[in-house]
Amino acid sequence: MGGSIADRVRAQYERHPYPPVSALALPRRKPEAELALDTGLTLAPARVFPEHPRILVAGCGSLEALVVARANPRAERVVAVDLSEHSLQTLTRRIQLARVVQPFTPQAPIETRQCNLHALNDGPFDAIFLSNVLQHVASPEALVAHLAGLLAPHGLMRLVVYPRESRLWMRALQRYLEARGLDAHTQAPRRTVTRHLRVLPETSPLRSTFFVNPESSSDAGVVDAFLHEHDDPLPLAQLASCMHRAGLVLVGERQTPSSQSAFVGEVNAQVAASITDPWSRLELLDESLELCANPVFWLARGESAPAPHTASTTRHVAGTVQVVDQALHVSGPLGSLANVPAASTLTSVVVPNPIGASLACRVRRLDDLLARVGISSDAWIASLAREVGPRVTPPPHSRELPGLALSDYDPHALRRLSPPVADADLDALEAWLLSVHGLVPSRPGEGASLSLRHAVHLASAQGSVLADSRVLLTRS
Ligand SMILES: C[S@@+](CC[C@H](N)C(=O)[O-])C[C@H]1O[C@@H](n2cnc3c(N)ncnc32)[C@H](O)[C@@H]1O
Repeated sequence: MGGSIADRVRAQYERHPYPPVSALALPRRKPEAELALDTGLTLAPARVFPEHPRILVAGCGSLEALVVARANPRAERVVAVDLSEHSLQTLTRRIQLARVVQPFTPQAPIETRQCNLHALNDGPFDAIFLSNVLQHVASPEALVAHLAGLLAPHGLMRLVVYPRESRLWMRALQRYLEARGLDAHTQAPRRTVTRHLRVLPETSPLRSTFFVNPESSSDAGVVDAFLHEHDDPLPLAQLASCMHRAGLVLVGERQTPSSQSAFVGEVNAQVAASITDPWSRLELLDESLELCANPVFWLARGESAPAPHTASTTRHVAGTVQVVDQALHVSGPLGSLANVPAASTLTSVVVPNPIGASLACRVRRLDDLLARVGISSDAWIASLAREVGPRVTPPPHSRELPGLALSDYDPHALRRLSPPVADADLDALEAWLLSVHGLVPSRPGEGASLSLRHAVHLASAQGSVLADSRVLLTRS
């Protein structure tokens, strides 16, 4: 699919404005306290703030700006900016409808503007709301820096982001659906995704990831959550340093308590005593797949914050390639294929299961994060199992959903897994198999060929995440 990321993201939201609710849906009359600037000001109380602030809702979609205008009725103006014309038209109709249906509900005036946020040349704003947008832009760092430049010195930013690692299963599902040929243009996405999931085992975590997600109940929600044109959240350590570089200081978190940095203390008091910086604690929870709610941050301009700790350990692992029983076993970074043994009778390629490998990366990262404070990650994972346990469906039934939590797995078994093969290396291997051996991956049950990376993602969804993924080969 061609076009820049912004073009493709815009086209998606032209077809499916966010949120995926009826164009006639109005916010509740009672203002949302969470979106009131007073909430942010209780966290950063020393600010001298104007009586009638100017507010920017950046990447506003079709509803958020109206909710913000009601939560802050004294605002001079709410500037609602989005790439998508359809989203802004829907927002405008909603504002008109609200005026007729709920004429006495106080709300600030809203001005809509269609443009790319990178090109917005306005301000200063006393407050900026940036919710669920950063993961959809090509350079989140550049966008944060640009928006920070539009914020008044006393200003506040309310930021909502996707937690990258805690969405491991969502990402695995996105890859599985992509491998089955689905994308943001798929017709009848909800029905089609449901059909493609039926071929997976009943207990597959990919199935539960879809069926328990509230976004799965509408076509627009399914596209937004699972077939998005560009969904690439920053790791929390990177988000922390990007905020620091933009001169923004974290003043408070407002997501559900079990996804706040303080939750580390509920899980393990020793870890909480050793890791006190909120960003590092959030990184620990994210690497543990425990940020089940999107983090909600209030940030303020500030010069004096110490740089957050963001050092990451890069493990240098060597790749291996060998032929065993007519199967090419590959793991880790491939490097040159010149030394791959010639084997004219290859029948399959075997690689580490990418989902298992991703879980193993989380355990190794926890090993690194906790080794710095002299705590064993096995002890931390054991406290997660004890204090948090497996994922469950919402009450009243609270049925367990095995396999979604990191603590559902034995960390030793995960550490024994071989390092993953990157998609780019799978592409190179595919080209090599074709040019040297005339072989292509075969689509299970159909014989038709598909790319090696897609074949690996399909195979990874079928078996145990601890077992290698095998892709059969056929003559081209
Ligand atoms: C997931 S929706 C979130 C909408 C709203 N903030 C909310 O939380 O309800 C992401 C929105 O960001 C907009 N968007 C993405 N990239 C943008 C950019 N570079 N400039 C302006 N809007 C953008 C999209 O068009 C879309 O409406």
